[in-house]
Amino acid sequence: MTNTARPVRSPDKFLVFGSPLIGEEEKREVLDCLETGWLGTGPKVARFEQDFRAYKQAAFAVAMNSCTAALHLSILAADIGPGDEVITTPLTFCASVNAIMHAGAQPVLADVDPTTFNIDPVRVEAQITKRTKAILPVHFAGRPCDMDGLGMLAKKHGLQLIEDCAHAIETTYKGKHVGTFGEFGCFSFYVTKNVATGEGGMVLTPREDTANRLKILALHGMSKDAWKRFTDEGYKHYQVVECGFKYNMMDIQAALGIHQLRRVEANWRRRQEIWQIYQRAFQDLPLTLPAPPEEGTRHAYHLYTVLVDSERTGVSRDAFMGALTAENVGVGVHYRSIPVQPYYAERFGWKPRDYPNSVSIGEQTVSLPLSAKLTDEDVHDVIQAVRKTLGA
Ligand SMILES: Cc1ncc(COP(=O)(O)O)c(C=O)c1O
Repeated sequence: MTNTARPVRSPDKFLVFGSPLIGEEEKREVLDCLETGWLGTGPKVARFEQDFRAYKQAAFAVAMNSCTAALHLSILAADIGPGDEVITTPLTFCASVNAIMHAGAQPVLADVDPTTFNIDPVRVEAQITKRTKAILPVHFAGRPCDMDGLGMLAKKHGLQLIEDCAHAIETTYKGKHVGTFGEFGCFSFYVTKNVATGEGGMVLTPREDTANRLKILALHGMSKDAWKRFTDEGYKHYQVVECGFKYNMMDIQAALGIHQLRRVEANWRRRQEIWQIYQRAFQDLPLTLPAPPEEGTRHAYHLYTVLVDSERTGVSRDAFMGALTAENVGVGVHYRSIPVQPYYAERFGWKPRDYPNSVSIGEQTVSLPLSAKLTDEDVHDVIQAVRKTLGA
């Protein structure tokens, strides 16, 4: 590792990891909310739901204020609760596991495949018990899980599929959009995601009754057209039909989402291009690069992750990250394996040695900037910073 005085980028040009590309259309649409005074859940949310549903070729879409909310309510709407088990991956953001716990159910982990970083159906099957009610796969980095394998298990054992598509807006598997394989597909529009609304989420479902239940749960348990009560059609009474949550999306968020979604394919092409530039630029380095997308699938190119094995590189993952940050290139870690987090280890007694693939990935992984906002110069700087860090 070299540490010459002059960084690849100057500090005033620090490359923020996952910075979103926001256009003039988004700014105008948000301004429209501010000028009309319609800030909360209203017509723009309805339009964003409609646009997202159409893009994903799904029957129904219900907007929420996060993917965490989307996962939580999907699990509740699947009638999963105390005494039930849900199988998910240890290589995920804590929200996937927390959502299962918010619903009162027991999360169960099945380790990932070491090449795809996605949950391994063989390990899932080994974890199925009488109490298992659902599989909650995460399409890691935008690469689809083995949906044939998981779909077969769901059918064989009568399980629900609740897809965590936080990374996977543009992802398809054998021509079918992810998030439409089971009754629930959950999406995130967090700042760093491929469609960014600041905070935001969506559930896709093939069933109207499920969509209606999700809408009710997301707005205090109030009957589904509650948001219409302030229109000029006159006051409408609402009914509280169950104890719901405050998980609704605002029009200000949808104002961003509508225009982000219009550019989703153009941004995807730019990220694909950057991904391919990285793959070529790093092929001679002692790093493990992401596996190429599988035949018959479409990768969303949400994250570009490399593995830093200190025995091959002579530098630890954390030192590698520190060096890139010193070069003014922001990086991320997706993710340290769930069982190494103290809360879960204490609460469930999960042992890292039982999830060796995710633990090993979690100790070596680094995500490099992969945003449509990156200029050619930014991409060049990332490459230079990585090569300099490894003395290449
Ligand atoms: C895999 C995964 N699941 C769930 C979430 C939660 O999304 P949100 O922040 O929209 O609640 C994230 C967010 O980073 C994620 O990466």
